[in-house]
Amino acid sequence: MASFATLIPLLTITLLSFSCSSQFILPIEKDPLTNLFTTSLNIGTPKHNFNLVIDLGGPILWYDCNKNYNSSTYIPLPCNSNLCSNDAGCISCNGHFKPGCTNNTCGANIINSLVYGIFSGNTGNDVLFISNTKISNILSGCTDSDGFTNNFPLENLPKYSKGILGLARTKLSLPKQLSLSSNKLPNKFALCLPSSKLGRLFIGGVPQKSTFFSKYELTTIPLIINPFSTAPIFTQGEASYEYFIDVKSIKVGGETLNFKSSILSIDNKGNGGTKISTLKNFTVLHSSIYNPLVKAFVKKASDNKIKQVASVAPFEACFDLNTIYRTNTGFAVPTIDLVFDRGMDWKIFGDNSMVLVNKNVACLGFVDGGKEPQTAVVIGGHQLEDNLLEFDLVSSKLVFSSSLLLRDARCSDFKN
Ligand SMILES: *[C@@H]1O[C@H](CO)[C@@H](O)[C@H](O)[C@H]1NC(C)=O
Ligand SMILES: *[C@@H]1O[C@H](CO)[C@@H](O)[C@H](O)[C@H]1NC(C)=O
Ligand SMILES: *[C@@H]1O[C@H](CO)[C@@H](O)[C@H](O)[C@H]1NC(C)=O
Repeated sequence: MASFATLIPLLTITLLSFSCSSQFILPIEKDPLTNLFTTSLNIGTPKHNFNLVIDLGGPILWYDCNKNYNSSTYIPLPCNSNLCSNDAGCISCNGHFKPGCTNNTCGANIINSLVYGIFSGNTGNDVLFISNTKISNILSGCTDSDGFTNNFPLENLPKYSKGILGLARTKLSLPKQLSLSSNKLPNKFALCLPSSKLGRLFIGGVPQKSTFFSKYELTTIPLIINPFSTAPIFTQGEASYEYFIDVKSIKVGGETLNFKSSILSIDNKGNGGTKISTLKNFTVLHSSIYNPLVKAFVKKASDNKIKQVASVAPFEACFDLNTIYRTNTGFAVPTIDLVFDRGMDWKIFGDNSMVLVNKNVACLGFVDGGKEPQTAVVIGGHQLEDNLLEFDLVSSKLVFSSSLLLRDARCSDFKN
């Protein structure tokens, strides 16, 4: 039974293309109540520490500039600046000057995808600090949450989080701005999301000097662009700035699932395809993929004498823990493979596929996205944990490791 989980990916092995400048490394924590991933940054003068939710699909860095916040180094972006290219209007304010209350200021689209909401805010630049390095002239958005009922822009974020660090493919994303600044980092970043304790965000890409990741065989696939925006607000004709990958088929326990594979392609309205999201707890699948996946998983599990028990919402396929063996990559359950061109694949082992719902039961951690989701496969946080993922925007490639447990490590074992 252990054979499922001990397969080591042998296909398409690539070496890391190491970046040559020093990177910025930010800590990542997982919030136990929401399962969201957060980091923290010091912004402004005097320094103010902001806990921010990491959103791979978020277009900007934004934070709460409510009445308790001020910064003497804040400079609003004038409406006529050529950097002010969005459609969020020109903002003015009748109060005393401070971040969030300025005149002739380029509006910011403050997006909180957890409530599919857009809020008004200001664009401005200020200093920020990453591991005590001071970085000037970073453009970000800020919104005064006091101006909304129940601090609506912060809804569904962890209580202590006061904004979102967006990492999408945009001009204003932090990795992109740092790549253009004097640091001349390549426009790349890597995520190692923790299952517990600390993970890391590596701005500039996977660290060059670290031996921690060099023992992994990494797979490189293209990042693809969905020509239709998937954002809550966009200009007609704008492409999506989220990260899509071209999954061609899905296997369970080595067998290809049978479903209409055209939903894995992006159609002429921008629907379908596969994207990666750090705001979803679990991978969300179109029903016509979810149903055969659950069926095949249950069948293969039962072939291996794993006993199915009653469902625990939102999951359907749940199993008696006493009937599941453990391996180095977690529970010994059928491996789920996302298959790309030329036989390349992303193997999802028990540690990433199964969720412990109580002390006796573990469930298949995928959820049903219904019959009409915009995107057919949204790979969520639980499936990304303890995997290294590098988003290389120089060559538009995703480089990934599969489970770090294959070499007996977790993201939290990384030491700077
Ligand atoms: C993620 O899971 C937590 C805990 O199960 C739940 O409270 C939260 O609403 C979920 N969040 C999302 C965005 O689905
Ligand atoms: C915010 O700080 C600036 C610069 O230090 C100061 O001029 C301004 O009056 C302050 N605003 C408020 C509302 O305290
Ligand atoms: C914005 O301009 C108005 C009109 O000139 C002025 O009353 C107000 O104080 C200004 N606001 C700020 C924040 O400077």
